[in-house]
Amino acid sequence: MDDGRSLTGEDLRWIEVDHARIAANVRAMKSLLGPASLWAVVKAQGYGHGAVEVARTALAAGAAGLAVASVEEGVELRQAGIEAPVLVLTPAQPAQARSIARHRLTAALSDMPAAEALAAAGRSLGEAVPVHVKVDTGMGRFGVLPEDAVAFVRRARQFSGLAVEGAFTHLAAADEEDLGPARVQLARFSNAVRDLEREGLKPPLVHCANSAAAVSLPESRFDLARVGIALYGLYPSDAVRRRAKAAGIVLQPAMTFRARVLAVRQVPAGWTVGYGHTFVASRPTVVATLAAGYAAGLARGLSHKGEVLLAGQRRPIIGRICMNHCMVDAGDLPVRPGDVATLLGADGGSAVTAEDWAGHLGTIPYEVVCLVGGRNPRRHLAEAAAGNAS
Ligand SMILES: Cc1ncc(COP(=O)(O)O)c(C=O)c1O
Repeated sequence: MDDGRSLTGEDLRWIEVDHARIAANVRAMKSLLGPASLWAVVKAQGYGHGAVEVARTALAAGAAGLAVASVEEGVELRQAGIEAPVLVLTPAQPAQARSIARHRLTAALSDMPAAEALAAAGRSLGEAVPVHVKVDTGMGRFGVLPEDAVAFVRRARQFSGLAVEGAFTHLAAADEEDLGPARVQLARFSNAVRDLEREGLKPPLVHCANSAAAVSLPESRFDLARVGIALYGLYPSDAVRRRAKAAGIVLQPAMTFRARVLAVRQVPAGWTVGYGHTFVASRPTVVATLAAGYAAGLARGLSHKGEVLLAGQRRPIIGRICMNHCMVDAGDLPVRPGDVATLLGADGGSAVTAEDWAGHLGTIPYEVVCLVGGRNPRRHLAEAAAGNAS
């Protein structure tokens, strides 16, 4: 910091994405799946890790396809030159049909107006649009009801310009301790699949499992699993962590969030720190001010609760987190301006995890990585080599 050059935002705070870890997580999950393939879920900028980069690593490590939430996310992958199948998980709207067809995306399908529009787009481009029929078994968000699946698939198959390639559902509770409700959904789906098979209508790709189900419910794996959070080295819940461990699966978090120390100052006993004077030093205190605040995803709810790593040691955040900065009690550590603090991830033998944040914030690790990863410049580590590492 004292070398005279001007620091940019990228130098002040960043996230590191470890692609060797993502590749290892892909391989670990694949080892569970047996003959079923793994489709990597890279929506929301790859859960904050970078969609294009994660997609490349996951494919190199053995993923057979990709899934995103929106057409725009699918187009981004195509524009980056990625040719693998890309399933857009949110059911298609008629107005998106041409874009889906033009970019050779796979559409989730749950209504006839979308089927008609996709079929027309497929015909005009001379190539059938692949669709996966979404069946609602209890998520209650999108899809045809299980008892309507046979009639729906039969009608959809009649459209030229449409190829019914898949049928899928989404489990809402495979991360719970009690797998009863997930089993109810799975049974509804299995019955619908059996009905399709009996009528000679079963599509080639039947799928149901997210990360939690892939770990928790072997019967949910069908032809492929749509694996998201596990790619990034996070468990959907403690119950899934335990089940994964029992199956010999250990995931490795891929995201680290770091920020520079901007100032180190000693304040006297009785001094106040941060907006609202909510922290009052009980003794002379060395305050390190870091270049990250809630605008960078360091959620304000971590004020007075969160810890960061300074020189590899856990130190408490004191006072309220500001928009662009936070203050940390540095204790007697030898910290200087320009040093790098770790807000999420490991340094030395210690780590602050997305689960730690989620616990303080009353949320889930998914939200933590989306929040941080979407707001900071990314440094991709070992991207090219990741797919080949064993
Ligand atoms: C339909 C669908 N499938 C799969 C996933 C991946 O879930 P997870 O990240 O829990 O593996 C999601 C994510 O929310 C989803 O919405």
